[in-house]
Formats: sequence, C-alpha cells, structure tokens
Amino acid sequence: MDLRLLIKTKKAKVAVIGLGYVGLPTAVELAKVGYKVFGIDVQKTRVDKVNKGNSFLFDVSSKELKEVIKSRKLKAFNNHSPLKNADIVLICVPTPLDKNKVPDISYIRSTAQEIAKYLHRGQLIILESSTYPGTTREIILPELGKRLKVGKDFYLAFSPERIDPGNKTYKLKDVSRVVGGITRKCTKLAAEFYRTFISGQVMSLTSTEAAEMTKILENTFRLVNISMINELALLCGKMGIDIWEVIEAAKTKPYGFMPFYPSPKLGGHCIPLDPFYLSYKAKEYNFWTRFIELAGEINDQMPHSVVTKAIWALNLKNKPVRDSKILVWGAAYKRNVGDPRESAIFDIIPDLLRKGALVDYFDPYIPKLTFKDGFLKKPVTLKSIKYTPAKLKNYDLVLILTDHSGFDYDKLARNSKFVVDTRNAIKSRKHKNVFRL
Ligand SMILES: NC(=O)c1ccc[n+]([C@@H]2O[C@H](COP(=O)([O-])OP(=O)(O)OC[C@H]3O[C@@H](n4cnc5c(N)ncnc54)[C@H](O)[C@@H]3O)[C@@H](O)[C@H]2O)c1
Repeated sequence: MDLRLLIKTKKAKVAVIGLGYVGLPTAVELAKVGYKVFGIDVQKTRVDKVNKGNSFLFDVSSKELKEVIKSRKLKAFNNHSPLKNADIVLICVPTPLDKNKVPDISYIRSTAQEIAKYLHRGQLIILESSTYPGTTREIILPELGKRLKVGKDFYLAFSPERIDPGNKTYKLKDVSRVVGGITRKCTKLAAEFYRTFISGQVMSLTSTEAAEMTKILENTFRLVNISMINELALLCGKMGIDIWEVIEAAKTKPYGFMPFYPSPKLGGHCIPLDPFYLSYKAKEYNFWTRFIELAGEINDQMPHSVVTKAIWALNLKNKPVRDSKILVWGAAYKRNVGDPRESAIFDIIPDLLRKGALVDYFDPYIPKLTFKDGFLKKPVTLKSIKYTPAKLKNYDLVLILTDHSGFDYDKLARNSKFVVDTRNAIKSRKHKNVFRL
C-alpha cells in the first residue's frame, strides 16, 4: 500500500528509536491513536520495563502503558531488526555534549547506520532529536542515500520534539509541530503523518535546516533569558532588592514583557545543551554566537553563587562549612519531575563535600544519586533521606534547589535553622532565617 494511504488509515507501522523522555510518550501516543508501534532501545532494562507495562517516566502512566502493550499496539525491542517491517521510523536518541561542550552526534550517526541496514522503498525517516542545522542532510542522508534515492525511493525529514516533561496542560499531542523535509514530498508526508495524532498546528517549512534551527531558536531564547534573570537576581541580592517582587511587578505590563525566573542553574537535557550545538556549527561560518556563550557562562557560574550564599548564611551563625550539616532540598532540574540531568546538585554537592560539609539530600522522585568530579577522590553515592519536618532541626542549613509541589515550605522555614531558597519556594517574607539568591 502507498505510504500516504498507510498514514491516512493509520495502518503504517511506526518504529520509535530511543525510548526515553521523548520516545516513550511518542510511542504510547501513536499506539493510542491506532498505529502499530515498535519501540527500540539499546537499554535492555528499559525494553523489559516497557513490555511489562512498568513506566519509568512521570508523563506516561503504567496504566496507559499496560493498555497499549496489552492491545499489542506497542512492543519494545532490544535490537533494530523491527526496522525491516517499519513504514515510518522516528529517531529520538540523545544529543549530549561531551565534556568539552562539543556536540556528540554519535547516537544519531550509529542510529542512521542501523536504519541504513534495513532501509527499503517507501520508508519515511524522521529525526526528532534536537541538533544543529544541517544534521539531517549532512549526517543522516549520506548514510541512507547510498543505495536509494531520497524523495523518490525513501523520504527523510526533521521535526523537533517540543515536549515539556511534567507539563499537565500541554501534553505531547497538544503541542504544534514544525516539519522540514529534504524534498517537498518528504515534508508533505511527514506533515501528513503528524496531523494524524497531533491536535495542535502542523507547520511545513522549506528545509530540514529551518526546522532544526527552529528548535535551537526556542531553546536559545530560554537559555539567554533565564541566564539574564539569574544575573539580575545576583545583582538584586547584592542591592537588597527582592527579584521575585520585581518580576511580579514587571508582569503587570500587558505587553512586551515575559517572565523568567531565577534558578540555581538551568538544567534538563535540552535548554542548557542545544544552543551549544548551534555555537559549534556557527564556527564553520567564522561566526561566534556571543549571546549563547555569555548565557552559558552565567548559567555555569550559578551553582558557585549558590554555594557562596550558603557559606555566607552559615557565617552569620559563626559556622564554617566544614562539619556543618546541610540538607540539599530537591535534585531534579525543575519542579515535579524526576529528571536530574544537568541539575545544579551535581555542582553543589561535590563542592560542599570538598569543603568538608556533611551533606544529605532529599528528593521525593530521585532515590539515589552518584556524584563525581575531578576533585572528589572517588565517586560518592547518596540516598535521598526520608523526609519528615522533625528532621529539619538536625541541619545547620537547608538549601532549596527544587520546589516540588506538595510540601509546606512555610513549615519548612519555621522548622529549619537556616534556609537558602533559590526558587522562592517560601512565599512569606516574615522568616528572618531565609535567604534568597
Ligand atoms: N527530555 C526532554 O525534555 C526533551 C524535549 C524535547 C526534545 N528532546 C530531545 O530529544 C532527544 C532525546 O532526548 P530524551 O530526553 O528522550 O533522551 P533519553 O536519554 O531520555 O532517551 C534516549 C533513549 O535513546 C536510547 N538510545 C541511545 N542510542 C540508541 C540507539 N542507537 N538505538 C536505540 N536506542 C538508543 C537510550 O538508551 C535512551 O533510552 C534529544 O535530542 C533531546 O535533546 C528532549
């Protein structure tokens, strides 16, 4: 059957490569609307969990996962052989930076090599991972275009995933998509595919590069603005001005202002990383993306400023950091998610440990974490404490990095000796033992 018809009737078989924060919700959504989905991941534990209907993500409940597994609409595999039966292939693999902040596109490259082994006529391949403009054409197309001709024998497009983990208002299917194909037919087919399960707008662009750039623009916009507000938060701290009050005041302007909020560091797998994919690529054009570099520098310095604030607060009690008991509250990079990637905690806890502090952490969603950095003699693994308000008195300082919902932060302030609150979790200004950024 012709691919257009397969898409129209949802009879197309879809392979989703990479069952993480992006791939798993996508696979489940596709299965829910009726597609037959092959989920593929190199991590066997993830594959086994999916097939047992045990979700490891907040955004996918085990109940809905079990339903699509039971209905045989979704099955997960620990190898790439289902690609031979797939009509559509979505690539949702990681795009990290290496330790020198250079894009690591090895996951995309090796996935493209796997797809090439099974590529057949009529297949549509869509890259969803965030990456620099040019990746689809320069990295994937050469691998796939060796035997078959793009736009004629097979189709290749880019459509960035814009999922916001933990967002209850905008779920995957509600968020508009942009699509750019290598040829017009590639774009058209990819757009038709997304229209079958996305309720938001599906916008066709003129190239894969424009679609790749769109995602980086969105993330750079957030990186630059959040870093700007973090810089102003540090200045406000020195000037004795409450940045949170100022943001609320600025929000009363009905146009021309959009609020961004201070944080101990901008985390997650996208916003702090993707813009550096662009700055890497820009150098090919003798172009320096100075906003991105500056924003990245401010972002990376934030944990240092937070530790300085903690030292300052302890100093008021004549306490050195050494041997002080510090509870780090929250490990996730943002509220109500269990994802610690790029979280400030990986900078702050090793720094406090090096300074001799006795550190515990609490996060209801992250039971265990391992910290390693160049200065620690060996990796340190900590388990989240089981929190009760009574335990707070055991600590000289509570350092709030994440303001998960469902906790009484006013009570936390009352029961703690000192608090450094980087998120404005404690709304009341009456507590004299609370310090903000
Ligand atoms: N997490 C987010 O909020 C988010 C939002 C939008 C876009 N993105 C982008 O989506 C992409 C994926 O991000 P994620 O957060 O889902 O990553 P993730 O690490 O949660 O999941 C990626 C999965 O891919 C698997 N994988 C790696 N190589 C593979 C291979 N060759 N074959 C099969 N599976 C393989 C990994 O085992 C992992 O399970 C990234 O480019 C990211 O920037 C992420």
